[in-house]
Amino acid sequence: MPPSALLYDKNQEASLQNNVSINAHPNNVIPIATPTFRVTCNRVGKDHQFTSMDCAAKFGGAINDLLHWRVDLSNPDINVILNIVENSINISIALTGASLHRRNITQFGPTALRSTIAYNMLRLADIQNGDIVCDPMAGGGSISVEGAVNWISSFHICGDNHHAAGLRSVANRDYAGNQNNIRSMAMDVATWDVCCLPLRRNSVDIVVSDMPFGKRIGSKHKNWKLYDHALSEMARICRCSSGRAVLLTQDSKVMTKVLQQYKHLWKRRHCYWINIGGLTAAVYLLLRTEHEY
Ligand SMILES: C[S@@+](CC[C@H](N)C(=O)[O-])C[C@H]1O[C@@H](n2cnc3c(N)ncnc32)[C@H](O)[C@@H]1O
Repeated sequence: MPPSALLYDKNQEASLQNNVSINAHPNNVIPIATPTFRVTCNRVGKDHQFTSMDCAAKFGGAINDLLHWRVDLSNPDINVILNIVENSINISIALTGASLHRRNITQFGPTALRSTIAYNMLRLADIQNGDIVCDPMAGGGSISVEGAVNWISSFHICGDNHHAAGLRSVANRDYAGNQNNIRSMAMDVATWDVCCLPLRRNSVDIVVSDMPFGKRIGSKHKNWKLYDHALSEMARICRCSSGRAVLLTQDSKVMTKVLQQYKHLWKRRHCYWINIGGLTAAVYLLLRTEHEY
């Protein structure tokens, strides 16, 4: 934005209101108070020859030179965010004072997923009114909670094989309902094993799940069997042809092998690489083929 865009022209407004053209005079130009700003830099990458502070300072200097905005680190009007991952940079302006990654959740388990990531996984699934959305390895239910808050015309079922996780899901569901003034959250919680779900064939439209990475929960070795059974069971409950799955995992090696094995049931539509607390993970968007289970 050029500096002139920050100036308020009294004549321009008058000419708009009266439809009369008046020649602008320097004395009639009143500067609007320039905003204060800060630059916040988040950075992931091994080979950078600079620090996050360097980036924020350089970028802030350029904004100041161009727009003459004043720096205020503690209470800025505008917070410019630089997200640097390896060789790419994303520049944005913060719309909320604090990060929303803990919204709607009050009970956190050892692998609680950020609400913001849960929300974006659900968006990828393209949920339609009336869809049944299932998270069969739900932990504290962050995915289903985001779903029930933001896609209120669909139904969300979640479960985990740990009883304590189910209790957290129920607490989070009730908390999110209160926070968002939703009297009856369209979300149910079960205790189950993903390898043997108590659900009918073709009964679910969408599976969205954050699968064990094999680090804090389970092990890389156990993932071979778990992912195999889970992908098979997800294919059984998911509707042929229209069903889809959005699965987050860090174990792309096992996932790739298992998807190869079940290519008659799942078609890999896309794989998005994301960063979770410094770990690279993959979000798979899968489409259920027309092949009957
Ligand atoms: C990465 S965590 C999910 C975390 C969750 N998204 C959250 O925000 O709390 C994976 C979950 O899968 C569950 N899990 C592992 N094996 C399972 C199985 N056989 N059946 C059901 N759940 C299982 C674990 O108990 C764990 O809660």
